[in-house]
Parts: sequence; C-alpha cells; structure tokens
Amino acid sequence: MNRLSDNVAYLIGGILLTILLIGVNLTVILPLMDESLYKPSSRARPMSATEEKGFAIYKREGCWYCHSMQVRRTESDVKLWAGGNKELVSKPGDYVYMWPALWGTQRNGPDLMWVGSRGISVERQVEHLKDPRKFVPYSNMPSYDHLPEDELLALAEFIMSRKP
Ligand code: HEC
Repeated sequence: MNRLSDNVAYLIGGILLTILLIGVNLTVILPLMDESLYKPSSRARPMSATEEKGFAIYKREGCWYCHSMQVRRTESDVKLWAGGNKELVSKPGDYVYMWPALWGTQRNGPDLMWVGSRGISVERQVEHLKDPRKFVPYSNMPSYDHLPEDELLALAEFIMSRKP
C-alpha cells in the first residue's frame, strides 16, 4: 500500500469511529443522564415484604417466560391490557421499585402490568396458580400446586399489587 491509500484508510477509520461515538452518546449516554428515568411515576409504590417475596418467586419460577409486564403504546395493547386507558401505557418511572424490570419478551399468557385491577381475589389467584385449567380449560399455564402455601400467597399478593 502506498502512503496515500494509508491516509485514506485512516481518514475513513476516523470518520467511522466518530460516527460510532456520536451514536453511542445519543442512544446510550444521554438517555442515561435523563433523570426522569429514575423518578418514580405517580402510580409507582415500593413493594411490601410479602410482595417482594412474591416477586422473587415470580423471577425464580420464570413466570416472565410467558407473561409480559408492559403496556405498549399500540392500540391493541391499550385496549387489551389497560382497559382502553392511554394513561396506563407503561413508562420508566413505573418500574423504579422493580429490579430487574421484567418486561418479558413473549406473551403466551396475558400481560400482567395491571393485572391487579382485574377484580380477582387473592384466594382466586392462588386457586388459579394451583390449577389454571379449572378456570380456563385450554390454558397452557403450568400448575404450581407443588409450591408451599406461603409462596403461593406471596405470589398472589405480588400479582394483586400490579395496579395503578
Ligand atoms: C407456559 C406459559 C406460562 C407460564 C410459565 C405462566 N403462565 Fe400464567 N398464564 C398463561 C396463560 C396461557 C394464561 C391464560 C389462561 C389462564 O388464565 O390460565 C395465564 C394466565 C395467568 C393469569 C391470569 C391473568 C388475567 O388476565 O387474569 C395470571 C395472574 C398468571 N397467569 C400468573 C402467572 C404466574 C404468577 C406465573 C408463574 C408462577 C405464571 N403465570 C406462569 C401462561 C403461563
């Protein structure tokens, strides 16, 4: 290679690196500095000890393999998982007290972001966890009746606390 093509290669490399750094800055560094991401939303509230326990079981049992916890901006999401209320579209501040935020990647079952406001009692949640097909005959949700009663109750409390 002669000197001219070396210089051209350095120039192109330099331009590409600058573009990459601008990209990382705009899409990663600047958003991380946005304080509104860390401020609790008006409906976020810290979990009680039992809800924390339930959340740990939710993580451990992989409920999030099948359930999402995020209402997206789309019309269908708002209609299905937020009762048509656009105010209930998920925002960063909703997850301040949940670490990690289990948004989920699949919806083999319903979204659980606001499941606590669907008017189901804790007792019924426990019954459903033990035997989903008792309520929905075609349900492919596994039965969790092998879990001890206190864990089922904690799970149900956590589920019920998911409301605005
Ligand atoms: C293999 C996928 C799968 C897994 C894993 C799973 N579920 Fe489900 N879940 C479903 C499906 C499908 C439904 C809808 C049918 C029904 O109600 O059983 C459902 C329904 C629900 C509902 C009722 C939601 C509503 O709209 O009223 C709750 C609550 C729930 N699941 C909680 C859990 C919890 C807690 C766990 C973990 C312990 C879990 N699920 C694990 C598939 C799954």
